[in-house]
Amino acid sequence: MDSIAGPRPLLFLAPMAGVTNTVFRRLCKDLGADVLTTEFVSAEGILHRNERTSRYLEFQSDERPLGVQLFGADPDRLAEAVKAVIDWVSPDFIDLNFGCPVNKVVSRNGGSALLKDCPLLANVARSVVAAANGLPVTAKIRIGWDSRSVNAVETSRILEGEGISRLAVHGRTKEQGYSGEADWEVIASVVQAVKIPVIGNGDIDSATVALERWRQSGATGIMIGRAAMNHPWIFREIRAALSGQASECVTLADKWAFIENHCAKEIDWWKGQEAQAMKSMRARLMAYTRGLPGGARLRERLQRVETLTGLREIASDHIGGNAA
Ligand SMILES: Cc1cc2nc3c(=O)[nH]c(=O)nc-3n(C[C@H](O)[C@H](O)[C@H](O)COP(=O)(O)O)c2cc1C
Repeated sequence: MDSIAGPRPLLFLAPMAGVTNTVFRRLCKDLGADVLTTEFVSAEGILHRNERTSRYLEFQSDERPLGVQLFGADPDRLAEAVKAVIDWVSPDFIDLNFGCPVNKVVSRNGGSALLKDCPLLANVARSVVAAANGLPVTAKIRIGWDSRSVNAVETSRILEGEGISRLAVHGRTKEQGYSGEADWEVIASVVQAVKIPVIGNGDIDSATVALERWRQSGATGIMIGRAAMNHPWIFREIRAALSGQASECVTLADKWAFIENHCAKEIDWWKGQEAQAMKSMRARLMAYTRGLPGGARLRERLQRVETLTGLREIASDHIGGNAA
């Protein structure tokens, strides 16, 4: 029986390029994430149907509701890409990226560049909503371009007016990148300003912080990025906290079992190309083992691991060396 009384926040896994592929998303869903989105995919990549794009778009039916996140700056090309991607993979919603701070994207007027061009922002949203033909279109924004131009309330109203059906707000400006702190007061003011659901995002790193931010901001949901990358159990911990229970403790053995399982699934996803899959897991392994005892030596071994058997040896040495 679900013991949660009253509404609870919807839990979103934040889209993260190079991290949130189908394998990781499903692991997070198993741990309690409600809504998943692909990493950002360029409209041009979709229109050219290139190989890398098709990998970004892979998902399994148990990931639904699943959104495809798109970036681009040309309303017509984005509209074409939306029609193509709906036809291609049939997602549950389209998410527009208006938050990416990366120069390669911003210099072509994509991502967060649209936050300082409200007419273009409106055009992009209008064009995509029309092309989606009834499929929900959501958007992810930052609170503004820089500290002198925090305009999340204005951009949110524009997006709502153009038919965007849900907004995720990362409480930082483009200029901040990932530095400083997410401003949840601005997120709360967006919640007040629009009628569509608002999902708050930025710096949620524990169940306690998640519930505090959710209650204080009035957001419909919360979106978690880096903390989920390091500690995906955060979704389970939030759900436990909501029902007033202590979450099961994640032991060192649990952690290694999870890591092994992630690697095994990644190898399957790479169609058995073990060395390549393990290479693609390196940054993930670094994130998972952050803060573990014996970190420097452990990380040095993990940097070189090329097989699942090699990983198991490292895990077994590490668990043995840290037995209570
Ligand atoms: C490695 C990495 C990749 C990211 N890629 C994307 C992306 O593809 N699309 C997007 O909207 N945001 C992307 N983000 C931003 C996150 O979705 C999120 O807004 C940000 O990390 C703040 O949330 P957090 O404090 O919970 O990490 C990325 C962040 C990181 C760390």
